[in-house]
Amino acid sequence: MADLLEPVMKKKVIVTGGTGYIGSHTAVELIASGFEVVIIDNLCNSDVTVLDGIRAITGIKPVFYDYDLCDMAKLEEVFAAEGKIDAIIHFAAFKAVGESVRKPLDYYRNNLGSLINLLAVMDKHGTTSLVFSSSCTVYGQPDTLPVTESSPVREAASPYGYTKQAGEVIIRDTMAARADQKAISLRYFNPIGAHPTAHIGELPRGVPENLVPFITQTAIGLRDELKVFGNDYDTPDGSCIRDYLHVVDLARAHVTALKRLLEGRNRSNFEVFNLGTGTGVSVLEAIASFERATGIKLNYSITSRRPGDIEKIWADPSLANRELNWKTEITLDESMETAWRWEKKIRNKS
Ligand code: NAD
Ligand code: WQD
Repeated sequence: MADLLEPVMKKKVIVTGGTGYIGSHTAVELIASGFEVVIIDNLCNSDVTVLDGIRAITGIKPVFYDYDLCDMAKLEEVFAAEGKIDAIIHFAAFKAVGESVRKPLDYYRNNLGSLINLLAVMDKHGTTSLVFSSSCTVYGQPDTLPVTESSPVREAASPYGYTKQAGEVIIRDTMAARADQKAISLRYFNPIGAHPTAHIGELPRGVPENLVPFITQTAIGLRDELKVFGNDYDTPDGSCIRDYLHVVDLARAHVTALKRLLEGRNRSNFEVFNLGTGTGVSVLEAIASFERATGIKLNYSITSRRPGDIEKIWADPSLANRELNWKTEITLDESMETAWRWEKKIRNKS
């Protein structure tokens, strides 16, 4: 009887990097699923107005701390102020592959320092569950496709990639030493697109390194043309192949992973899942999809290969399909359309 009279407490989740691209979409899905979201982000690659976008979609503006996760005293402050934290989803990281080659120590310090601090503070304050943003970059160029979670992890091609590999090892070893904690590492393939409301999306700083923001910025007139990096690969049309998934589908996977941990349905205290569509798409096919979805003819030309590019990779997502009861639902064309809607919104064009 006493139980019935107790208020139903929402589970409280810290989302690090929650004003960033994937974190903001995940905050929306978490709120829609009844979680209380607390965001920690130092805004080094995002804007505080993203919180207004989250509120416009969900009606709720999450509690926000403009703190650097590498600052342990600030992290302690959050845990002291917020009381019981049920789980953490850790998105915050530097993510530019090229920059990581030029500034490796910045990447090791930020990406690994923040993770180590979080693991320490969660232990001290009794937080039991962690979801970590990993990447298909851990596989390098696989020998066999599609890639399963047991495909070998290859030597990282960049310091950024190494922070994901090392991050997974740090979490695995830490979980092995702690009986009461558990973690899931999600290896994302290529997230694209924006929220269909166009209230939140990707905000690349400077010239985008990623394909889809470069496509939309070209279409809107910010860039003269898209350069397709190589058409002499061993693929059907000669351009590289990736597995592009919509960011809202990706965000939903975090909710299901979190529930798995909180409900104790995990099979071990450190699990890894690939998150992709299971379909490989070439650069030229991605361009064709954008053109089909928007009716815009994209200005592009073929240029030489980009150093360090993987020729082809796509996911075998069947483990996530089965264990997380998750699969992608949004098509490539729809993804391109949302990316375009977002680009127009942020450039004030209808
Ligand atoms: P993003 O840059 O948009 O978001 C990351 C957020 O973390 C930013 O808002 C940034 O301000 C914040 N941040 C970084 N360091 C911080 C620190 N020390 N303290 C507090 N906040 C900090 O990136 P994203 O695309 O949303 O990526 C989220 C995560 O997913 C990252 O870990 C990234 O490596 C991983 N990932 C991204 C992709 C992709 O293609 N976008 C693919 C695979 C994995
Ligand atoms: C996709 C395809 C390019 C831009 C990167 C990171 C990886 C992961 C995802 C985080 C490639 C081609 C691109 C352009 C082009 N991130 N391209 N012209 O290379 O799969 O991976 O993001 O973990 O770690 O390395 O994504 O979007 O940069 O490129 O032709 O102007 O588009 O060559 O084939 P990528 P991308």
